[in-house]
Amino acid sequence: MNNSLLLPRVQERPRTIADRTRRVYDTLASIYPASTFFFHSKAHACALRHSRIRNGMRVLEVATGSGEMFRRLLKANPDGETFGLDLSPNMAAHTLRRARKDFPCVQAHCGAVDVRDLPFREGSFDAVVCCYLLELLAEDDIASTLREIRRVLRSGAVFSLVVIGQNVKMFNRLYAVCGSLAPAFWGRQVESDVPGMIRQAGLRIVTDQFVRQGFYPSRVLAARKR
Ligand SMILES: C[S@@+](CC[C@H](N)C(=O)[O-])C[C@H]1O[C@@H](n2cnc3c(N)ncnc32)[C@H](O)[C@@H]1O
Repeated sequence: MNNSLLLPRVQERPRTIADRTRRVYDTLASIYPASTFFFHSKAHACALRHSRIRNGMRVLEVATGSGEMFRRLLKANPDGETFGLDLSPNMAAHTLRRARKDFPCVQAHCGAVDVRDLPFREGSFDAVVCCYLLELLAEDDIASTLREIRRVLRSGAVFSLVVIGQNVKMFNRLYAVCGSLAPAFWGRQVESDVPGMIRQAGLRIVTDQFVRQGFYPSRVLAARKR
């Protein structure tokens, strides 16, 4: 997978809020690691524990952002092959640069790809990971993304998902305000609908845990392809 080959896929789609999302995250790629450190790292560690990832697997992370979870995956899978993708070319480039620097001998591939249309064959991964993406997708796109993820998983493999929790009332109010001011960056909370959508996509939930990092709630789910 290589950035220049995959970039046209992103641009082929009709113009939607995803274009703004790509621009916003492109702009923030160099400072985004701070936000991940303060708000996402605890849930990332929890998702990795539930992911059943073992060394030697073929693993995919969708929506890597600046690559903090991606580097955890490389550490857990040094003899396997780990793929990452993000809508934002700058995020994908940042992720790959850091991965190559910290894990020069590990097979790591990253590209700018829209998750709604995965360029991989059916059943090609032993595990798929997705953290804090669904908030940014339209409802129909969440359903089609989950179907795409299921398609690329081999049967019996595990999909690990992190979404922003809706179990802290004050946080929900604040998030609704932020989401109305900058929808392309914040999106909206979707956590309470997600378990039903996972099941509808043909995946069976095997673990489900709420995690809090300070004021910031997350829900970590793992689901198996039947
Ligand atoms: C909130 S950030 C989360 C980043 C990272 N997964 C983490 O846990 O910190 C969401 C990421 O999703 C990416 N994204 C948004 N829409 C996408 C799409 N349709 N396909 C792939 N990536 C997308 C954004 O570019 C951004 O990097």
